[in-house]
Amino acid sequence: MDKRFYITTPIYYVNDVPHIGHAYTTLACDALARYKRSRGFDVFFLTGTDEHGQKVEKAAQSKGETPLELADRVMKRFQALWEKLDISHTDFIRTSQERHIKGVQQLFRIIQAKGDIYLGEYEDWYCTPCETFWTETQLMDGCCPDCGRPTDKLKEESYFFRMSKYQEELIRHIEENPEFIQPRSRRNEILNFVREGLRDLSISRTSFSWGIPVPGDEKHVIYVWFDALTNYITALGYPEDPEGQFKTYWPADAHVIGKDILRFHTVYWPTFLLAAGIPLPKKVFAHGWWTVEGQKMSKSLQNVVEPNMLIDKYGADAIRYFLLREVPFGLDGDFSHSALIHRINSDLANDLGNLVSRSTAMVHKYFDGNLPAPGEDEDIDRRFIDRFPAAVRTVDVQMNELAFNKALQTIWELISAANKYIDETAPWALAKDEERRERLGTVMYNLIEAVRLIALLIAPFMPETAARTMATLGGDPEALALEGNDGWGDLHPGTAIAKAAPLFPRIEAE
Ligand code: ME8
Ligand code: MG
Repeated sequence: MDKRFYITTPIYYVNDVPHIGHAYTTLACDALARYKRSRGFDVFFLTGTDEHGQKVEKAAQSKGETPLELADRVMKRFQALWEKLDISHTDFIRTSQERHIKGVQQLFRIIQAKGDIYLGEYEDWYCTPCETFWTETQLMDGCCPDCGRPTDKLKEESYFFRMSKYQEELIRHIEENPEFIQPRSRRNEILNFVREGLRDLSISRTSFSWGIPVPGDEKHVIYVWFDALTNYITALGYPEDPEGQFKTYWPADAHVIGKDILRFHTVYWPTFLLAAGIPLPKKVFAHGWWTVEGQKMSKSLQNVVEPNMLIDKYGADAIRYFLLREVPFGLDGDFSHSALIHRINSDLANDLGNLVSRSTAMVHKYFDGNLPAPGEDEDIDRRFIDRFPAAVRTVDVQMNELAFNKALQTIWELISAANKYIDETAPWALAKDEERRERLGTVMYNLIEAVRLIALLIAPFMPETAARTMATLGGDPEALALEGNDGWGDLHPGTAIAKAAPLFPRIEAE
């Protein structure tokens, strides 16, 4: 089996500051990247910023900056947030970087040399905020069908990509690769769109200058989406590939995106690649949309959820957990403070936190902090222990399907089972009877071993909590790999167990 894994986030526009929506995509990718690493995969995890285009040029003008100054400033905010959220990306690409510019121009030249780029004239309705041209029939009351804002009629000389030529090949690819577009409902949506017919695509602009020049015709800049999508290969070193990363990691295993940019990733991007003779990514997964307290997040409503504040208040792990647990990946969700506090109190403070603190405290109370050796297992122990290998397998399937909330449910079933195991074995009663000392040792061993496996399973989602828990169990907080360590009974009797500080304090409602 090929143990390499390449996963990407969208590259975010620098004309907006990072909010909970960007954090969501990035940490979903992070959880999967960490999970795959933990399974022994060589993972390349890419994120970055999309810095060209008229929107950025305008935003910079209005602030009295150059576009690059603006990009430098906002890019740092993204990087700072990723650090604060414990994002483990391998690389951060900026479209203003030389490595990217060269690669985009080269892709343009290759497609042009093939005869699939030609010079023509463009006239259509343009939505500047969305950087998208619309045909007359696509407009909604003269406005952009995506954002509802007014559009302008634009006519300009433009290079065109012969996208229409690839319609049938794209349909065939989507039909033959059911995994290519996910979730399934999105696949049907795109198939219907492509079957209605693909037009050639305008891929250059002359109306502004903040972009990558068309090779050999510098009054044109390359359309932002041709520029942006190419990041997925330029980050790997395409086309020269000096470090062999393109050869090693391409095609990508998963482009994870929001549903807003599905068409760009499943129609434009694959047809560019088909034209250039480059293999297509294996999977594009479009997740759903977050609203906030029931409303669309928007600057004008001033309800944009600022992740830094939340992380300061509740910690990165609680936010990571909440976002991936609350909503099935692929569906829309609503962010509310009451839901967040409820999850922290019930799932983290209560279920997980109590399990870890009760188990470790009992090892202290009854065995001076030295993990006892297990004796003979009884039925109740075997039923409990048998859950673990089964859950480990289920989590693997669910992670590979990007079903993050299901994987967390599976892990939480183990946590509930462990809490129930405490209640049913009643160690405090066993402790009163000197003759039941070995039985008490068995229960303690099983509990602590369960906590160890649970810590490994939650590590991709909550790396800090997992590391703290591991350290409490006398383990190496850096050694969180599941591969090779996910079998029952790896923990050595005699290990010194520390007393766990509470993992998650309860939040009192304001
Ligand atoms: O589209 N709910 O960048 P962008 C869920 N530069 N996810 C959300 C969200 C919300 N309310 N708001 C944003 C661009 N996102 C292009 C991408 S890729 C080659 C170029 C997330 O800054 C989601 O992943 O507008 C969405 O697709 C992305 O941010 C859009 O980021
Ligand atoms: Mg956007």
